[in-house]
Amino acid sequence: MRLIRSSARASAPGKLVLFGEHFVVYDNPAILAAINRRVNVTVHVNNTDNINITSDLGLVGSFKDSRFNLLSGPQETRTILAPLCECARLVLSERGCNRGLDIDLVSNLPESVGLGSSAACCVATTAAVDSLFHEPDRYWISEKAVEAERLIHKNSSGADCHISTFGGLMYFVKNEGFRKIYSKKQLSLGLINTGRKHSTGKLVSSVKRFKETNVTSFKVLTLFSEIISQKAFVAINEGDEKTLGSLMNQNHVLLQEIGVSDKKIDELVNICLTKGAWGAKLTGAGGGGSIIVSFPPNSYELKVFFDSLDKSELGGQSIPVEVDFSGVLVA
Ligand code: PMV
Repeated sequence: MRLIRSSARASAPGKLVLFGEHFVVYDNPAILAAINRRVNVTVHVNNTDNINITSDLGLVGSFKDSRFNLLSGPQETRTILAPLCECARLVLSERGCNRGLDIDLVSNLPESVGLGSSAACCVATTAAVDSLFHEPDRYWISEKAVEAERLIHKNSSGADCHISTFGGLMYFVKNEGFRKIYSKKQLSLGLINTGRKHSTGKLVSSVKRFKETNVTSFKVLTLFSEIISQKAFVAINEGDEKTLGSLMNQNHVLLQEIGVSDKKIDELVNICLTKGAWGAKLTGAGGGGSIIVSFPPNSYELKVFFDSLDKSELGGQSIPVEVDFSGVLVA
């Protein structure tokens, strides 16, 4: 396929897992929401056969065949940038093109805290590179982004790439696909970033070990997770945020059981509940990361707590978020 332009831009949103994280890796449903924070990617065709990647995190490197030249950043830079190079290579190979690229990333999503930053990077890169050739297809983008994301953690459910590509609210089952969820009401969700980074791959592996050593209890927990996600689908549809909050609390207990919550997360969750939240839970892989909170309108005490967080000894930061309905955008 011929190039139709020499540069392109795309952006893709981050996400929250509202229900079903970890269980989704084992073909159970999860519910996700895209959020109004994005990764922006610009690509330029260059005159070499190198794929040069620069991220606003200060990471700069150049890939040529199997070699990597670190230009700026820590030792892990190669591992962090490799999935993005893979996105570009998957597109170039599919389109029969062997040109080099300069790829620039700018993100307003904190990374490694459960907000889908890696997936958004993969989706935006795939979309930007593919739009050098034609108007990209969203299903194709999400499929290729999942392939590249599996370099980061090989058992990825693919949920993050799908929500980042399609936006909105979604009921997702690995190997089956997704259904969009339409809510009668705009959901008001609070988000707390604990500031503690996690490795999704390590947490997914620890859940795998839990599953293998606690076969029966994992089956029971999986069943509960499925029921919770199904009820949450209905609650979101009806705009019933109080029920949604109560389901979040039930989901958090399951995540505690499989060992991905910790003392600090539980403390933050409990404080939110004592200050009037309908529900709160960790979101994403856990082990630090982020917490989501469902709360009634005019929750003055809770809002004061959110605002005071960064100065308190609990640490963390409240991030205002809304659901993003546009998904990946190509400019
Ligand atoms: O990487 P995170 O923290 O956004 O978590 C991803 C959600 C998991 O269910 C834990 C993993 C997956 O592949 O779905």
